[in-house]
Amino acid sequence: MNPQQTSDTPLRFSIVLTACIALAVFNTLSVWLNLDDLEDSNLETSLTWDAINVANLILINMVDAETAVRGYLISSNESFLEPLERSRAESTFIRSELIRLRDQGIIAADNTSSILESVDREYQALDELVQVVNSDQMLDSAEVSRAFAGKVVMDELRARIDRVQERQHGRLSEINERTYDSFQIAAYVGVGTGAITTLGLLLFYFDLRRNIERRTAAEAELKAANATLESAVVKRTEQLTRLSRHLIQLSEKEKATLASELHDEFGANLTAINLDVSVVAAKIKDSQPQLYDRLQRALGVLRESVDLKRRIIHGLRPSMLDSLGLAAVIEMISEEFTERTGIPCRTALPENMAQPPDDIAIAIFRVVQESLNNIAKYAQASNVSITMTQGDWLRLTITDDGVGIPADIMNRPVTHGLLGMQERMKQLQGIFKVDTPAGGRGTIVRAEVPLI
Ligand SMILES: Nc1ncnc2c1ncn2[C@@H]1O[C@H](COP(=O)(O)OP(=O)(O)OP(=O)(O)O)[C@@H](O)[C@H]1O
Ligand SMILES: [Mg+2]
Repeated sequence: MNPQQTSDTPLRFSIVLTACIALAVFNTLSVWLNLDDLEDSNLETSLTWDAINVANLILINMVDAETAVRGYLISSNESFLEPLERSRAESTFIRSELIRLRDQGIIAADNTSSILESVDREYQALDELVQVVNSDQMLDSAEVSRAFAGKVVMDELRARIDRVQERQHGRLSEINERTYDSFQIAAYVGVGTGAITTLGLLLFYFDLRRNIERRTAAEAELKAANATLESAVVKRTEQLTRLSRHLIQLSEKEKATLASELHDEFGANLTAINLDVSVVAAKIKDSQPQLYDRLQRALGVLRESVDLKRRIIHGLRPSMLDSLGLAAVIEMISEEFTERTGIPCRTALPENMAQPPDDIAIAIFRVVQESLNNIAKYAQASNVSITMTQGDWLRLTITDDGVGIPADIMNRPVTHGLLGMQERMKQLQGIFKVDTPAGGRGTIVRAEVPLI
């Protein structure tokens, strides 16, 4: 796998993700701004409609007032004047609405004032006509024409209101157009950002998929490499186990050969020397006492050598292992240990125990031998005990009350004695453990081998 690709990938992911998020935020903002615009347009539309409605109201109100006065003119019935008063009252509200719309910039100030002026003039004309009717005079032609002067004002008002309404309708179209335009832009922006985001996400998806595929391939490669390595380790361990078994067997064989040669050849030679020197010593005892003494010393050294030979032979492979059996040999080396070190060694071994197979007997003997050596070298113990039981398994424990042993001792690289014992047990499908005894002081070595 190219390392550059893996280190680039998260950066590329981040860039694409950031771009998509930025576009989504931009889109949201644009919709938000558009909503604001829409709200403004709605307000403006509603005010424009207010202006159109107010203009209509003015016209209707004035028509009502004019109709009332004309009715009064014809009938002289005062009840016809009531709509005039209502119209006047209404006109106060209409006037205030007109001014509000002017202040909000919807109706132009000059239009407002000219409309208001026309309204005032119309009411004035109508009031004058009512006064003429009230004075009960006959209407002459001048007054009649004056009565219809209101019509001119009314036409003027209509024209002004038409202008205002035209202007407002124009404004409505403008607002519609503007709103449509801004919606169109928003739609383009929305579709554009949506397309880019989709593209970005697609890129992201493909990139991610490629990355996952690459990672899966790398994992598979690693797994394959691990499997190869594992099988190589298994193979190598098997080879090493075979080699170590071979070396142990070879060493035992060589020790046995050496022991037998020491016993047969070297032992016979020492015995012969002993015999000859004893004979010569007896002969010169009286004639040459000085030489006799020297020969006696030589015989003493010879006896020590015989003793040494015996110890060496026992160390190599006690001949008693075959003749007396495992339990007796363990008893013997424990006594030798006590003699050598002065540390009492208690044994609890099965009575009349059946002699285990040769390889097991040798392995157990070596465990006892190495453990006692280790105790002598390191433990500073006051008491040692060896116990052995025999059933389906042969179980051996060697306990001392010395300084104890580190818990991770079996994982340390230079522990040949302990590893050797472990290896011997492994080759016999047995168990080897080094622990701290229940009391918490000293060391307990366990070796267990299946007998069936
Ligand atoms: N009974 C014990 N009490 C305290 N320490 C022990 C005991 N047995 C072993 N050890 C410690 O464990 C270490 C490893 O022992 P091991 O027998 O594997 O190696 P060794 O005796 O140092 O060397 P070798 O056995 O190869 O001559 C020893 O160096 C010693 O520190
Ligand atoms: Mg050792």
